[in-house]
Amino acid sequence: MAALKVAFQTLGCKVNYYESEALKGAFRREGFELVDFQKKADVYVINTCSVTHLADRKSRQAVRRAKRRNPAAIVAVTGCYPQVSPDELISLPEADIILGTGKRLSLPGIVRKKLRGEDVVPQVTPYGQAAVFEDLPWVPEQERTRAFLKIQDGCNQFCSYCIIPLARGPLRSLQPEKAMEYLREMGRSGHKEVILTGIRLGLYGIDLDPPRNLAFFLNEALKIPGIERIRLSSIEPADFNNDLIMLIKENERICRHLHIPLQSGSDAILKKMGRSYDTAFYRILLEKLRRGTPGLAVSTDIIVGFPGEESEHFQQSYDFVKESAFSRLHVFKYSPRHATRAAAMTPQVAPDIKELRSRELIALGEALSDAFREQFLGQTLSVLFERELEADAAQVVSSVHTGGEYGDDTHLFEGLSSNYLRVCSFTPVNWRGKMGKVRIEKKFRGYLQGTLLEK
Ligand code: 5AD
Repeated sequence: MAALKVAFQTLGCKVNYYESEALKGAFRREGFELVDFQKKADVYVINTCSVTHLADRKSRQAVRRAKRRNPAAIVAVTGCYPQVSPDELISLPEADIILGTGKRLSLPGIVRKKLRGEDVVPQVTPYGQAAVFEDLPWVPEQERTRAFLKIQDGCNQFCSYCIIPLARGPLRSLQPEKAMEYLREMGRSGHKEVILTGIRLGLYGIDLDPPRNLAFFLNEALKIPGIERIRLSSIEPADFNNDLIMLIKENERICRHLHIPLQSGSDAILKKMGRSYDTAFYRILLEKLRRGTPGLAVSTDIIVGFPGEESEHFQQSYDFVKESAFSRLHVFKYSPRHATRAAAMTPQVAPDIKELRSRELIALGEALSDAFREQFLGQTLSVLFERELEADAAQVVSSVHTGGEYGDDTHLFEGLSSNYLRVCSFTPVNWRGKMGKVRIEKKFRGYLQGTLLEK
């Protein structure tokens, strides 16, 4: 009998991404064959996001799309959306299986049950304070050169706009010994870059006995053979203690890119958001991080149209973002989330104003990204090559560049720099999974393009 086919669609953050990879591994172990989401499958898994109503809508659309592709398939909806709003999914006829953010590894079993025609009930359990970290083992992926690892989950902050503490439960961390085991496997299987993820990554270890912190974790992780660099996903401004700042600055193997959510550049709005810092604190943090750390990229999240955001508050956000010279901006239109404090705040901002402000900030973000990239023309970046670009791209580049220097066996490879810039370069052989220093010469499409110095 042919293996049953399972296809995944993942929305939202890097934590979701990791969890989907772990779930794919669980399905494979159960004998399922993984296929592309665009293909006809027997089972579709939608790993959802619920951070805004737009994320909810996209999640619902994915569920419907899956069912349209194969009406006979079983569609399983998991993650933050069902965890927060189980009823909305129970009333969605296309959703056959509903599983929140807990007990993820039970999914293949539930699917088998459903396939046998048995009844399955929605699996959504609200989090209590005693929630423990659910270890979703890392699964090696042959194709990838970079590996994600979730080492932390949950948040206790309850910022006034944010649903995530409900979707993810309280702060909890993966035991460092277990994490090091996964990291050693990653190093052994040729993953030169590891991306550490968590919902509140900067508070890693605070719940452990004995308590640990991210600086401790990084020090241990840096000792593991094979792992050449470590990338951090989002870290809250308040979570950078001096140990962490020093460690990042002193250790070039920690990627020169930090994502530090600002949310607003207005102190009045930050206060109403329930954020624990003001712009002065954030400015000093940026100074500390950037001083003596050339090339450091800092990206951020901004919410526009938070309740009570007047045009002067928005202007403050705009000016602060510009002053901060972020390398990239993620702009979110404020979306009232059920059972959050901000949803009841007045006045709410009109949708057309949110739209305008969002567009203005997105345009500023693009200009800042461009300016950030521009400063690396003529400089050397260390790149982990991931993928060969198609022949047409190679042709475009060689027509304006001496790409033929490696003769017939010329390849155009792309990868990420330590500070998260997409770089492409000609290489003599298959350069996938290799690191190299590239002297940047020009901008090409979305890339920086340059000459590989170390072969
Ligand atoms: N509305 C709009 N954006 C939100 N975010 C979180 N909650 C909301 C909301 N209610 C954004 C924040 C956060 C990112 C992941 O999502 O900017 O950093």
